[in-house]
Amino acid sequence: MVVKKTIVVENLKYRYPNTSKLALDSISFSVDEGQFVGIVGKNLAGKSTLCEALVGLVPHFYKGAYGGKVVVDGVEVLNSSIGEMARHIGIVFQNPFTQITAAKLTVYEEIAFGLENLGMDRVEMVKRIDYVLDLLGLYDFKDRNPFELSGGQMQRLAIAGIIAMKPTVIVLDEPTSQLDPQGSEEVFKAVQRLSKEGVTIVMVEQKMEKIAQYADKVMLISEGKMIDFDSPQKLFSREDLENFGVEPPVFTTIAKKLNVKDETTGLYPVTIDEARRLFSL
Ligand SMILES: Nc1ncnc2c1ncn2[C@@H]1O[C@H](COP(=O)(O)OP(=O)(O)O)[C@@H](O)[C@H]1O
Ligand SMILES: [Mg+2]
Repeated sequence: MVVKKTIVVENLKYRYPNTSKLALDSISFSVDEGQFVGIVGKNLAGKSTLCEALVGLVPHFYKGAYGGKVVVDGVEVLNSSIGEMARHIGIVFQNPFTQITAAKLTVYEEIAFGLENLGMDRVEMVKRIDYVLDLLGLYDFKDRNPFELSGGQMQRLAIAGIIAMKPTVIVLDEPTSQLDPQGSEEVFKAVQRLSKEGVTIVMVEQKMEKIAQYADKVMLISEGKMIDFDSPQKLFSREDLENFGVEPPVFTTIAKKLNVKDETTGLYPVTIDEARRLFSL
């Protein structure tokens, strides 16, 4: 079976205007359709810039010096407008407030707004809105004012608005960093549902336990360079993680201290279930 590559990045280099350092330095990787990719790395490593390069904000909005190639869903970002890219890839930012248009009175209308802009017909629109309201668990809130929602609900509304456009890929840049634990959990559950629906997920996240639990592969970025891109088990088993300002999941840290590894793979556990299995031997 041939698996489609929804993202192909080749030797991507990027510098913001009026800066001297590369924010992205010779990055190459590809992502299979339906994969869930986590991106980790310390503050200012280049995670957000990479997200912006996937959706086209880099270079179309930020300008600057750009080299290499980014292809998403078969479309080369450099040759497509941000609007054209939105049909293939959507982005959710840290703060849900910035993503709500405030032009509309209800959750329902907020989602409809993006679709109306595409000139979509009424029947299709209603169908899609009902689908995303259900998928993101927002049906009961459809008549609410978006600004009366909790943080987690608002972030799910931002995701709903994007998913209604039926993109192949969704990028989430630290979507839970401004949320309380309950709101974070709501967003993780919602993203997990999207993943099960076959949407390709790229998620920047500081909560390593969550990334270890949900991601198929994890990318480690440092100073604009891709250090590694591998399974959570392999990546979090690296002995030099701390050098890149990343702490592995708590279960991995404990297992490292006790030197408890999976005998067949030689890797440390990364989730609570794996740890439980290994520690109970
Ligand atoms: N709009 C901008 N203009 C100039 N430099 C920027 C801009 N945004 C980010 N940078 C720089 O690019 C580098 C990567 O930043 P960023 O992608 O935001 O990192 P992260 O998301 O990992 O914290 C940093 O050196 C940062 O200072
Ligand atoms: Mg960032």
